[in-house]
Amino acid sequence: ERYGIIMAGGGGTRFWPLSRREVPKQLLNLTGKDTMVNETIDRIKKSVRGENIYIVTNAVQADLMEKVTEGRLEAKHILSEPTARNTAACIGYAAVEIRKKYGDGVMCVLASDHYIKNGTAYAEVMDYAMELAEKTDRLVTIGIKPTNPATGYGYIKYNKKMKEVGHAISKESGKRITAYPVADFVEKPSLSTAKSYLEQGCYLWNSGMFVWKTSVILKYFEELLPDVYECLLEIEEAIGTDKEKETIDRVYPTIPKISVDYGIMERADNVIMLEGDFGWSDVGSWDALDTLYDADENNNVVYGEQIHIGSKNCIAYGRNKLIATIGLDNIIIVETEDALLVCDKNKAQDVKKIVEILEEQG
Ligand code: GDD
Ligand code: MG
Repeated sequence: ERYGIIMAGGGGTRFWPLSRREVPKQLLNLTGKDTMVNETIDRIKKSVRGENIYIVTNAVQADLMEKVTEGRLEAKHILSEPTARNTAACIGYAAVEIRKKYGDGVMCVLASDHYIKNGTAYAEVMDYAMELAEKTDRLVTIGIKPTNPATGYGYIKYNKKMKEVGHAISKESGKRITAYPVADFVEKPSLSTAKSYLEQGCYLWNSGMFVWKTSVILKYFEELLPDVYECLLEIEEAIGTDKEKETIDRVYPTIPKISVDYGIMERADNVIMLEGDFGWSDVGSWDALDTLYDADENNNVVYGEQIHIGSKNCIAYGRNKLIATIGLDNIIIVETEDALLVCDKNKAQDVKKIVEILEEQG
């Protein structure tokens, strides 16, 4: 049986003022179609049965998550973490839930806040990834061709000269979907390292989507993250009993905070990678909005009712008021009911600093 696990407990501070602690990026509707988490659910429903989809989220987001996903997902499939302990804990929690309830299965682990352009091409890659995970007992990851030396991603080194693990043929495009053995995995390298990776040309970005058997990933937890695994065993024992909530509230906050990328992917052997060619963006900050919307003839990306005279290369996102600009270049404007952001497009990463200041002020 196949399971879809959506990791949706991230804080997301870079979309302030639209995102707030209780309403992070995954709960935003940035595309104008639906929230990112609902788009993630609908996308994976092509490959995984609806009743096999789980969301792991933070307790502070759980109520809103339930409301937003109503009709798509049973409320009991929203696993709520009392505190955020990063993605290793999140994945481990889902894995022991599945092991306890169903025995083994193939888990398709997804981020909740990515934009994917071509859902059909995506489904073909995920289907092949699940097939490989079923057949091979390996960790499968999806790589994306890098376009710039971003330092916020993991990098997957692969070797095209090595014997491929296998391939599928896309029905849609007729292109090969090839599985390569992974030679190295480096999470969030420095800028100079990332630059050299791009020059070498044998690295892909880690998309943050993983496929493996529950039994296989839990073996890696046992071997590489024994402290995390010990906590998971205690939680597993309590799942389905009247001690479940009490145990999770007590044990979860003690799970070591580490991401699956540092904790497992960097250290595991036996990883394989499929190249995903479906139009991917992790929409990291406001400046990435141009991957979701077409720009106008002056390269402005606008959302909402607006007038721009002589402005170019701007991103303007409005909900309530009319936005009008004259002669601006490379500026981001975001307007919500209670806040207004005006920001240099090259400094979009620093929006999180505003959130830090606001939090300090309480
Ligand atoms: N439930 C839960 N609990 N979810 C979490 C937690 C947590 O404590 N922390 C993060 N998440 C969710 C986020 O909501 C997001 O959907 C996903 O897990 C990934 O977390 P990020 O915090 O966004 O990770 P990242 O972007 O720094 O790095 C990861 O993604 C990159 C691609 O976007 C890594 O996998 C990188 O290697 C990768 O390149
Ligand atoms: Mg991310």
